[in-house]
Amino acid sequence: MLKAINITKKFGALAAVNNLSFEVEDRQIFGIAGPNGAGKSTLYNLITGFYKYEGKIEFDGKNISGLPTHKIARLGISRTFQIPQIFESLTVEESVNIGGRFGSSGKFNTGYSDEMIAFTSLEQERSNKTNLLNLLGKKRLMIAAALATNPKILMVDEPMAGLNAMEIKEMTGLIKSINQDLKITVIIIEHFMKVLTELANPILVIENGKEICTGTPEEITSDPEVIACYLGDSHDT
Ligand SMILES: Nc1ncnc2c1ncn2[C@@H]1O[C@H](COP(=O)(O)OP(=O)(O)OP(=O)(O)O)[C@@H](O)[C@H]1O
Ligand SMILES: [Mg+2]
Repeated sequence: MLKAINITKKFGALAAVNNLSFEVEDRQIFGIAGPNGAGKSTLYNLITGFYKYEGKIEFDGKNISGLPTHKIARLGISRTFQIPQIFESLTVEESVNIGGRFGSSGKFNTGYSDEMIAFTSLEQERSNKTNLLNLLGKKRLMIAAALATNPKILMVDEPMAGLNAMEIKEMTGLIKSINQDLKITVIIIEHFMKVLTELANPILVIENGKEICTGTPEEITSDPEVIACYLGDSHDT
């Protein structure tokens, strides 16, 4: 469904993404792990067309390299950001509608936005200004706005960061439900290995922009290179 072929992104001398290839299949929850600065968020910026890069990305067999962000969104690729990006002066409902309008291909309707507000448990807050939401609420809102575009793929960037144990359970349930009930392919960048291995299969582990390994949760957590570079200090978090 989504295929990256030898993609490279350099910032000056630094190759933030370095000759990376991978393939995400329809209906997977595809995990991405790696230490700070590994190039995970940059990878999302390449897929969604924020930066030019070397190599090629195909979506449903179509070359999307070089397309502008709104065109990529309209093909069905939607994302959330590591740090919640919300319009503080708007209500929850207005924000979800704006998200939907940006990414939909003419078929946007507020009815579907309403469904996504309910799906993300934001119904009671729909008329509230978004700055009243707590962190979990803001993360739900970003997801609702991304879902309002009716995407084929949703890409989430460290959705658990900053959440407490209870909230992590809720967010985990929401992501499972997006995949299983809405039948949307999910790509998830996540630092918490316990959460990632519960949700995702396969998982791609990168370091310094390069692939260390790709495999099932069992495979990656027993890979000596992964343990050395990454799991050694964060497996229990
Ligand atoms: N716009 C930019 N200009 C210059 N360097 C950048 C830019 N964006 C990212 N980088 C650098 O590229 C590398 C990868 O950054 P990226 O944000 O993709 O890492 P990450 O894996 O998402 O890390 P984290 O787990 O901390 O979120 C880092 O060294 C970062 O400083
Ligand atoms: Mg990041």
